[in-house]
Amino acid sequence: MKTLRTQVGIIGAGPAGLLLSHILHLQGIESIVLEKNSREDVEAIIKAGVLEQGTVDLMNRIGAGQRMMKEGFHHDGIILRFDGRDERIDFPSLTGGKKVTIYAQHDVNKDLIKARLDSRGDIRFQTRDVSIYDLDSSTPKIRFRDKQVSGTDEVTEITCDFIAGCDGTQGICRPSIPAGVLKIYERLYPFGWFGILCKAPPSSHELIYAMHERGFVLVSTRSPDVQRMYFQCSPTEKLDEWSDDRIWAEFRARLATNDGWAPKEGPIFSKTVIGMRSMVVAPMRYGRLFLSGDAAHVVPPTGAKGLNLAASDAQILARAITAFYKSNRDDLLDQYSTTALRRIWKATRFSWWFTSMMHSFPGADEFQHRLQIAELDYVTGSKAGATALAENYVGLAIE
Ligand code: PHB
Repeated sequence: MKTLRTQVGIIGAGPAGLLLSHILHLQGIESIVLEKNSREDVEAIIKAGVLEQGTVDLMNRIGAGQRMMKEGFHHDGIILRFDGRDERIDFPSLTGGKKVTIYAQHDVNKDLIKARLDSRGDIRFQTRDVSIYDLDSSTPKIRFRDKQVSGTDEVTEITCDFIAGCDGTQGICRPSIPAGVLKIYERLYPFGWFGILCKAPPSSHELIYAMHERGFVLVSTRSPDVQRMYFQCSPTEKLDEWSDDRIWAEFRARLATNDGWAPKEGPIFSKTVIGMRSMVVAPMRYGRLFLSGDAAHVVPPTGAKGLNLAASDAQILARAITAFYKSNRDDLLDQYSTTALRRIWKATRFSWWFTSMMHSFPGADEFQHRLQIAELDYVTGSKAGATALAENYVGLAIE
C-alpha cells in the first residue's frame, strides 16, 4: 500500500472542497482533494448559479473571480410576478449597494480547478473505493484507489490532520459517522421543478419569479442566447408527457400579465425534473471529520442558496483550520458547526419561505391563494418587507 501525508484531506471537488483547498493554500496549508468524477464531468455539472455578493467577494479575494466578473450577469434586482402584474425588488437601494451575479456552478468549478492547478494544487479525479478511518483520532486516514496517478490499482492511504467531507448528499463522508451521532432535519415539498434550456434570447433582463394558481414559474438565463426556465410540476412528472408545444402553452398561461407579456420562445434542448427538499444535519463534525456543503445540508432551489452555503461553510472551516495551525487554537474548530449552522438555518428558512410563498400547494383553496397574493403585495409594497427579501437574497453575513 502506498502512503501519503497531508494536512487536510478533502473529499469532493465541488465548490465546497475546491474553495476550502484554495483558501487553505493561500494561508500556506496543504491539502489533497479526491474526486470520484472526471475533471470534464465536474466542469459540466449544470446547477443554479446565483452568486451572493459575499460569494462574489470571496472568489475575487482568492484570485479566482476574473472570468466571473467579465462573463457573469450582474443583477441589481428580481421581478416578482403575481396577480397579473410585476413588482421589482431593487437590491442595492435596500441592502447598502449589494447585488447578485448569475454565473453557473460549472463555471465556478472550472475557475476553481484552474486556480488550484495553476498553484500546483493536488486534485485527484476519478478516485475509487474512497473510505475514511480513525476519525476520532488526531490522525484520520483516507484510503482510495487512484489509477490515474499511480498507474496501478493499488490502494493509497493518506494520513491527515483533518478530513473535510465535501462530497455532496450522496457522498461517503456523512454515512461514515457512527449511527446516533447526527440529527437529520428534513422537509419534503409536494412538488418539483420542470426545468428547460432553450435557444432564445432573455425574455427579461432580470429573473422573474411568478406565482400563479397553476403553479410557480421562474424565468432565468444562462447566456445571451440560452434561457433557463422552470415551472412547478408534480415530483413524479413524466418528461415524455411534455411536448415543446405543451410546455410553452403552460409557460404562457402562468406568465400572462394584464398588459400582455409573453416569453421569448425557442427550441428546447434540455428537459429535467428536479425534486425539492430541505435537509440539515447537526452537528457538522465528528472528531476530525468536518462536513461542508451539500454533505451537510440541502435547500430547495428557490433563491439558489446551495452554492452560497457551500462557500460560507468553506470560509468558516478554513478560518478554523488556519487558527489551529497559525495560533494553536482549537476553539474555532469546536465552534465550526454552531457558526456554520446559524447561517445555514437562516438560508434554510429563507428558501422554505420563498418556496412556500411562490408555489401552489396541492389541495390549497382560493383562501390560501388570496393569502399568498396578499403576502406578495405586502413584501413588494412595504420597505420592511422588500428589505427582508432583498437582504436574504443577496446573502446574510457569516457571524
Ligand atoms: C437558475 O438559473 O437555475 C436559477 C436561478 C434562480 C433560482 C433558482 C435557479 O432561484
